[in-house]
Amino acid sequence: MKNVFEQYESNVRSYCRKWPTVFSKAKGSMIVDENGESYIDFFDGAGALNYGHNNDFIKERLIKYIESDGIVHSLDMYASAKKEFLSYFEKEFLIPRGYDYKVMFSGPTGTNAVEMALKLARKNKKRNNVFALMGAFHGMTLGTLALTTEKAAREGAGVTLENVTHIAPPYYMNHSFDTLGYLKEILEDDHSGIDKPAAIILETVQAEGGIYPFSVDFLKGLRNLCDQYDILMIVDDIQVGCGRTGHFFSFERAGIVPDMVVLSKSIGGYGLPLAMVLIKPELDIFHPGEHNGTFRGFQLSMVTAKAGLEFFQENKMDQEVKRKEKIIYNYLNKEIKPLLKKDMEIRGIGMIWGIDFKSGKLSRAVLDECFKNHLIIELAGRDDAVLKIMPALTIDDELLLKGLEIIKNQIKKVL
Ligand SMILES: Cc1ncc(COP(=O)(O)O)c(C=O)c1O
Repeated sequence: MKNVFEQYESNVRSYCRKWPTVFSKAKGSMIVDENGESYIDFFDGAGALNYGHNNDFIKERLIKYIESDGIVHSLDMYASAKKEFLSYFEKEFLIPRGYDYKVMFSGPTGTNAVEMALKLARKNKKRNNVFALMGAFHGMTLGTLALTTEKAAREGAGVTLENVTHIAPPYYMNHSFDTLGYLKEILEDDHSGIDKPAAIILETVQAEGGIYPFSVDFLKGLRNLCDQYDILMIVDDIQVGCGRTGHFFSFERAGIVPDMVVLSKSIGGYGLPLAMVLIKPELDIFHPGEHNGTFRGFQLSMVTAKAGLEFFQENKMDQEVKRKEKIIYNYLNKEIKPLLKKDMEIRGIGMIWGIDFKSGKLSRAVLDECFKNHLIIELAGRDDAVLKIMPALTIDDELLLKGLEIIKNQIKKVL
């Protein structure tokens, strides 16, 4: 007999097909199903749970706030929780880094925030076109889907996806493509046929695209190119921001300052929805209400977002990620690499890593075996051929190693 999900929920559901059980509880990096079976979580809510499931520090703040009848819904009215979040974010995260950004809240999902950034970029520069990189994922609504490159996702649009030019990233042509040289040439060439863009948007580590961290030289070069040609640089830090790479903002490692930064997922702290764009003050040209949304400024997310930031500071999460990066790097290179075929690759940074099997059949087989052995893990990239290792930043070392060992054993089995 079909379960209630198969019977009533749309065919569009996806993650549940990879892990076909009903989850009911979770704590830290463990997730438990209705049968009481526990699984190690290397999926991390697609990057929305950097501080783990039901983090006690954050939960306490949330419960206190709810019990005090703090305001929950307020659109963009002034509200205490938002005041506290903004003040803390400014004081502890923006000012110490020398960043002069204004904060613009969008509807509470990542794609909402990217849409808003695109609108603002086009309005500022009075140009339609935007450059995105091949392999990019920026969301599933029409404006962001035009940036997103996955064929199957784009086919769902039902209309022509326009006003975006996709550029090959440096990993094209077997990691030899000169993206910056190419960009320069098409921007200079009056016969390139490509309209100058308002902005270039990118993830500093392509996540859904298959875990491709871009080099510091590339990121710096792109920043210079944007300055040289009067193009806005938008960093989509929705998935790899909030500490994932070993810095709170993923672009810090390159010492660059984007014109806009898009944040969502783990900025909400607790898995509650929140999305925003950081913008340089001179770009702040929307009229009041020109971009709007009923669930901008969901105050419970402001409470958990601030608590998440405090947790980050108090626990020095950036250093913690750098420490755990070494554990993952060593394990992957010593224990797993020798099991792989020559053309397979291991890529990553901080606490986001991929094992590229160059075959969706193999990666899916490994994923299935991992699930049978109580590890929740996701795939990414072309043909879903990359096993994506993305645990919570708070995972303890023992559990991290246990999860990695499960992966190693399943690779042995499958290969
Ligand atoms: C880099 C990036 N941008 C945008 C999005 C879209 O966010 P949402 O699913 O909340 O719309 C995602 C989601 O995975 C993402 O990883």
